[in-house]
Amino acid sequence: MTKGQKILGGVIVLLVMFLGIVILRVWGVQPPAAVKTVAMAKGEYDPAVWGKSYPLEYTSYLKNKEMKPSPTGYGGSVLVQKWDMQPELKANFAGYAFSLDYKEDRGHFYALIDQKESKRVTPQTVGTCITCKTPYIEKLFAEQGWNYAKTPLLTLIDESKHPVSCASCHDPDTMQLRVVNPAFKEAMGRIGVDLTKASKDEMRSYVCGQCHAEYYFEPGTNRLVFPWDKGFTPQNMYEYYSTKPNGFERDWIHATSGAPILKGQHPDFEEWKNGTHGKSGVSCADCHMPYTLQNGQKYTSHHVTSPLHYIQESCLTCHRGQTEEWAMDQVKTKQDAVFQMQHAAGQKIAQAHQIIKQAADSPGVDSGKLAKSRELIRQAQWYWDYVAAANSMGFHNSVQELQTLGQSSDLAWQAIEAANQAAGRNLLQ
Ligand code: HEC
Ligand code: HEC
Ligand code: HEC
Ligand code: HEC
Repeated sequence: MTKGQKILGGVIVLLVMFLGIVILRVWGVQPPAAVKTVAMAKGEYDPAVWGKSYPLEYTSYLKNKEMKPSPTGYGGSVLVQKWDMQPELKANFAGYAFSLDYKEDRGHFYALIDQKESKRVTPQTVGTCITCKTPYIEKLFAEQGWNYAKTPLLTLIDESKHPVSCASCHDPDTMQLRVVNPAFKEAMGRIGVDLTKASKDEMRSYVCGQCHAEYYFEPGTNRLVFPWDKGFTPQNMYEYYSTKPNGFERDWIHATSGAPILKGQHPDFEEWKNGTHGKSGVSCADCHMPYTLQNGQKYTSHHVTSPLHYIQESCLTCHRGQTEEWAMDQVKTKQDAVFQMQHAAGQKIAQAHQIIKQAADSPGVDSGKLAKSRELIRQAQWYWDYVAAANSMGFHNSVQELQTLGQSSDLAWQAIEAANQAAGRNLLQ
């Protein structure tokens, strides 16, 4: 070989290696090749039946039965009571069912079982709660509209048979992503979002947002409503609730302070939407349902859990050149900061409920100032619970959540100050 041939040979080898790397990288982030679509019968809600045509997706869906703690120590898929880590939860939910039972969430497979077994559920619990547990609501809503919300929940759990499953997110004819929850469609319609025109990327978050969101029940009808008319931040939603929408004023009267309280409900969609990833177009599925390889076949993982169990497929597909340790540290650092502030705000709120009670029991209490302190604790608790009820311990949007918790602590102090004024003395002494 001449020197020229050697150089040429070397260049060709390098070129082939380079192209190889490019192909591998591009392939790594591309969706799987289109799978052959097999139409399912409308109203087929059993994932095992769908699974016969889509075995890879079904096998990974069955992994939602797994129960593992999170490596960061927050969240996880083990049924622990949330108040083991935050005893103030019991005090802050006094007089409400969340003081009886408030467990960590686990995989989609358990959605109906956990609801049935929750001590919060009684024969009087309304049917609305079934909306985010099963695809069966498609049938219920088609036949009865919102009237199904009046049927006792326990009856509907037995009728539903299947928890969150294929038909919750896929059109049975085309396998395209779809939303079945009518409340999500209505709420998006009110703010001018036409779901029939949503992009595939948007749908990769909307299918989750239909359940992982804050809500309330319309008084009288129990209709499910998402409070997004003024926007998605904690402030926007508080303002919305202050207008007493559809006659809704509060979830309950606090047993200790007598304040009218709003219960926050897992605002994961809202939290994500204003966060770095949400604003950068990174979808829920990008992190929680990454593309996965099995025996050379590529598919979307349907094991929906903490991405920290599969950092390589999830975070590092985009954060190239970073390590698993980096990703873990980023999540843990944010969660530690948020937990510390959440715990502090929660404890201050618990103390404020006590102080307001003392003020209310004081002879000659100023009722105007007492009402003011109750309004302040309502607001403090909303800001705290927006973060505490969301599931990522602040990771989805740590900047917003730290600010929200700062506001919450400040408002709890103001509530204590107002209670002191109502009583005409310093109740902290
Ligand atoms: C950038 C990646 C990313 C995106 C995008 C994302 N998440 Fe997460 N999510 C995480 C991480 C990291 C955690 C924390 C996991 C842990 O603590 O082990 C988490 C936690 C959660 C949890 C709690 C899991 C548990 O262990 O209890 C839920 C529920 C959740 N996310 C839902 C959503 C939804 C719904 C969306 C979209 C609206 C979304 N996530 C978008 C990364 C993401
Ligand atoms: C929580 C929502 C959700 C549920 C439940 C769900 N899927 Fe999916 N599925 C998705 C998302 C998101 C994608 C990615 C779609 C995309 O990007 O176009 C997907 C993709 C798919 C695909 C396309 C091929 C692939 O792997 O990307 C098939 C087939 C599929 N799912 C089958 C199923 C089956 C079968 C079930 C029930 C056992 C199921 N899905 C349950 C959300 C869901
Ligand atoms: C039909 C309603 C519904 C849909 C759709 C839905 N979820 Fe869930 N999700 C739930 C419920 C209910 C639970 C709690 C189940 C339990 O604790 O028994 C849950 C639990 C979870 C968990 C906790 C799992 C664990 O291991 O701790 C994660 C993470 C999660 N969902 C993410 C998502 C993402 C991401 C999407 C969209 C791709 C999605 N969910 C779509 C209702 C839904
Ligand atoms: C689909 C691509 C994608 C995935 C998957 C993804 N990220 Fe990101 N991430 C981004 C983008 C885009 C940004 C915005 C800033 C930028 O362009 O670098 C970002 C920003 C960040 C930041 C800096 C901003 C902040 O909020 O502090 C951290 C930390 C981060 N990601 C961690 C993670 C972790 C941990 C995971 C996995 C759980 C993850 N990311 C998954 C695309 C992604």
